[in-house]
Amino acid sequence: MIIIKTIEELRELVKGWKREGLSVGFVPTMGYLHEGHKSLIIRSVAENDKTIVSDFVNPMQFGPTEDLNTYPRDLDRDAELVTEAGADAIFNPEPEEMYTDSFSSYVDMTTLTGGLCGKTRPIHFRGVCTVLAKLFNIVTPDKAYFGQKDAQQLAVVKHMVEDLNFGLEIVGCPIIREEDGLAKSSRNTYLSKEEREAALILSKSLKLGSDMMEAGEKDVQKIVQVIKENIEKEPLAKIDYVEIVSWPELEEVSEITGTVLCAMAVYIGKTRLIDNIIR
Ligand code: PAF
Repeated sequence: MIIIKTIEELRELVKGWKREGLSVGFVPTMGYLHEGHKSLIIRSVAENDKTIVSDFVNPMQFGPTEDLNTYPRDLDRDAELVTEAGADAIFNPEPEEMYTDSFSSYVDMTTLTGGLCGKTRPIHFRGVCTVLAKLFNIVTPDKAYFGQKDAQQLAVVKHMVEDLNFGLEIVGCPIIREEDGLAKSSRNTYLSKEEREAALILSKSLKLGSDMMEAGEKDVQKIVQVIKENIEKEPLAKIDYVEIVSWPELEEVSEITGTVLCAMAVYIGKTRLIDNIIR
């Protein structure tokens, strides 16, 4: 497993693989990898001849008051996990390698990005789409792997790849959870012991909603209300949003008639956590 810092070096490596007719899988990440990332890498390794993992905390997708500076970083630890999972290379560029002083081109999407996380993170998806467009052009993978935990991101990326004819397959992979139900996230490391316990309110409340749907409840407002009331019982939790929208269009629905995404973002103390179910 090698660590690559420059775009030129990465292009050379991939060019060589492509000359040999090898397929390339790609797992974009912001590092501080956990079992969720590992499951994506393992899937990519199983489905492609070669796998590249990008490890880049993308400044463009963080708002001015968000956690860019404190976002956890540990390349040595990441390298161990990537090696264990069987990938071939980590791409770990410096921000200046990705964004030169004259950088001024962006990928913006006019649908899918305004609701859910986009409401309180207005520049987030422009940053995500722009960095992924760059990474897809640099890596030129056959397939790229994304976790369903960022369900809106998954829908946005699929849409962008279709709109802009990137010619690669986006593979969505299931959420990986801790034994007690908490969705794995690099941001879980911010939680104190007490907050870690309180964070279970996300998966527990989603389960409540899921059970209501399972029992045949179709009224979206009713389900959202029950979920919100349950989260509000946890003193350390503050709701950013709880929504049920159509999947993968992310459109508002009042009644459940087809596949829906039930998604939430909740602050536990200062840490903003997301979770969802699709059903
Ligand atoms: O999901 C993430 O970690 C990031 O949004 C991504 C896709 C690596 C883009 O920076």
